[in-house]
Amino acid sequence: MRMTGPIARRKVRITGISQLVTCAGPERGPLPTLAALGEHRDAQVVVRHNLEGGWEVAWIGSAGAADTPTCDASFDLGGRTLLPGLVDCHTHLVFAGDRSHEFTQRLSGVSYQALAQAGGGIVHTVQRTRAATVPQLIESATHRLEDLALQGARVVEIKTGYGLDVATECKILNVIGILQQRFAGIVEIVATAMPAHAVPPEFSGDRQGYVDAVCQHILPAMARCGTAPSFVDVFVEQGYFDVDDAQRIAATARDLGMQLKAHVDEFADIGAVPWAIAQGATSVEHLLHTSASGIAQLAKSSTVAVGLPLTSVFLREQLAPLRALVDGGAALALATDCNPGSAMTTSLTLVLQLAVLLGKLSPAEALRGITRCAALALGQPNGYTGRIAVGEPFLATVLDAASVDGVFYELGTPMRSWDGLLQARIG
Ligand code: NIG
Ligand code: FE
Repeated sequence: MRMTGPIARRKVRITGISQLVTCAGPERGPLPTLAALGEHRDAQVVVRHNLEGGWEVAWIGSAGAADTPTCDASFDLGGRTLLPGLVDCHTHLVFAGDRSHEFTQRLSGVSYQALAQAGGGIVHTVQRTRAATVPQLIESATHRLEDLALQGARVVEIKTGYGLDVATECKILNVIGILQQRFAGIVEIVATAMPAHAVPPEFSGDRQGYVDAVCQHILPAMARCGTAPSFVDVFVEQGYFDVDDAQRIAATARDLGMQLKAHVDEFADIGAVPWAIAQGATSVEHLLHTSASGIAQLAKSSTVAVGLPLTSVFLREQLAPLRALVDGGAALALATDCNPGSAMTTSLTLVLQLAVLLGKLSPAEALRGITRCAALALGQPNGYTGRIAVGEPFLATVLDAASVDGVFYELGTPMRSWDGLLQARIG
């Protein structure tokens, strides 16, 4: 085939789809069945090259449909499941060291906050991350990203936040930039600046001094770094940053072109949800202690709620009110929160399973949480909406299974993606 002009419209028919879930159903509200999310048996999908060199969905229909477009090639999935590319919209996966010693202490009753007050917690990981080299950070983060990619993650957000000074926050962004190149065409990586993750030891007892440093030095340096973050995130929490701190940080970040995310209501409700909504935050995350009024406000806003069920389990805390968030009408995304202190995991599979088994979501609501709503929580990066829809970018996950049912049924067994489409460089 001549690789000039017409390649832009090259069409490929995808066949052998035993189950297609487009995730193009409603963004909010209860979804009792997969059919409500857009499940099709015997479907074919036609994709075509777009002008940017990527792929977009040209047609979706049944295998025998009379209006099937003529294609240049076809690709057989061999009876596998086709989903929109999965999204892990909340991770902190660039860090050094581990906190297994703290985990053991927590199992004998010491609280997460007590460990932090004793100089451990996030600050422990900050010390290790400051001392680590770029290759060391790349190596450990690569393993975590590979684990996610094997389960079918095609978009992953990574927050900084284990540097808490100009040099190390920029070092982490640099690592994220290298990971973006290394995983190009496999996993798209969205960077979030999170210098307001904790107060570092050099500002101990001077939180305001640290917030000044974040606004005057750290965030401006991060915005100039080669890998400019799309978002800023603030840990708005008792013992970390209050709403006034968060307000100053959000205003600075906005001027630097970053959109807002916030960690809220993880340990206590300090009014962060209404504040974040009023700021037009793209998402609020954790939500363990979110009240009925917080849920009602989220339902009326475009701010996405991000549930992190593995963090609750890992901390032996209650789950966020996942069922009430969906029933109330909030857009609910789900993610791993991969980090060394509160969720040492890359299991997107367990996120789905526990959201269903403990959070009482339906499989369709859980799946929507790591596709459609997770893409929304990242501001639909490069136009990816987390669904398979005509005219939209085609970014796909193929599960190496005849349906998604086993993902929920086989407790603890990682779901396996199949990389045939990736190998063929389609979507
Ligand atoms: O999402 N809440 C703040 N950040 C992480 C925990 C980070 C850590 O303990 O290292 C979280 O739970
Ligand atoms: Fe987090």
